[in-house]
Amino acid sequence: MDIPPFQTAIPVFEELRGPRVLVRPYRTSDADDVYAAVEASRDHLRPWMPFADETADELRDWLAHAMARWLLREELPAGVWEAASGRYLGGSGLMIRDWRIGYFEIGYWLRADAEGKGYMAETVRLLTDYAFTSLGANRVEIRCDARNTRSSAVAERLGFVREGRLRNNAHAPDGLRDTLIFARTPDDPPMG
Ligand SMILES: CC(C)(COP(=O)(O)OP(=O)(O)OC[C@H]1O[C@@H](n2cnc3c(N)ncnc32)[C@H](O)[C@@H]1OP(=O)(O)O)[C@@H](O)C(=O)NCCC(=O)NCCS
Repeated sequence: MDIPPFQTAIPVFEELRGPRVLVRPYRTSDADDVYAAVEASRDHLRPWMPFADETADELRDWLAHAMARWLLREELPAGVWEAASGRYLGGSGLMIRDWRIGYFEIGYWLRADAEGKGYMAETVRLLTDYAFTSLGANRVEIRCDARNTRSSAVAERLGFVREGRLRNNAHAPDGLRDTLIFARTPDDPPMG
């Protein structure tokens, strides 16, 4: 992709739609729904997500920063909604590792009662396709705690290639963790 002289001029999506999910940037008015999803999912999120115990005020502050990072094209944090009902399901988005390389990372979480229904696989597929087709991506990466088998299963389900395991490279709530690195490049076979 040709990068405009101002990073803020890089065109990005307003929404992505799959058969069952809608992915779009956050709005201030999403705060209550996002907080309710976190509040209903604390035990489910705690082993893996640093925001599991955030208060409503902390969440509102995070949301403001997320919207600002989107505007500045420093990161594209997006929410995931069930298309049919409009119910908030969780968070995902593209972290920008390097615009010029076309190197992005996808992170994700679902509210506890939305797990096990294929919503995140659909979301990651949408974001990955978008990165390759519209952002000229050369590399889309997923990282996760080596113990987080549900998270690594999302990457494997979509044909991300496991490239390595970084030992003791990050903090986890219970000490240090190993991190698995998965990635897709444009030459990889289509997502299954
Ligand atoms: C990681 C996380 C997002 C994965 O969610 P998930 O629901 O397991 O992932 P998917 O969307 O790929 O769904 C796959 C599951 O839905 C099932 N499923 C049901 N209906 C489906 C459908 N129509 N299409 C596809 N899959 C479907 C699949 O069989 C699979 O179930 P299984 O794992 O029991 O075999 C979720 O576990 C989570 O939020 N964890 C806490 C936060 C976290 O760890 N985030 C990642 C940090 S790196």
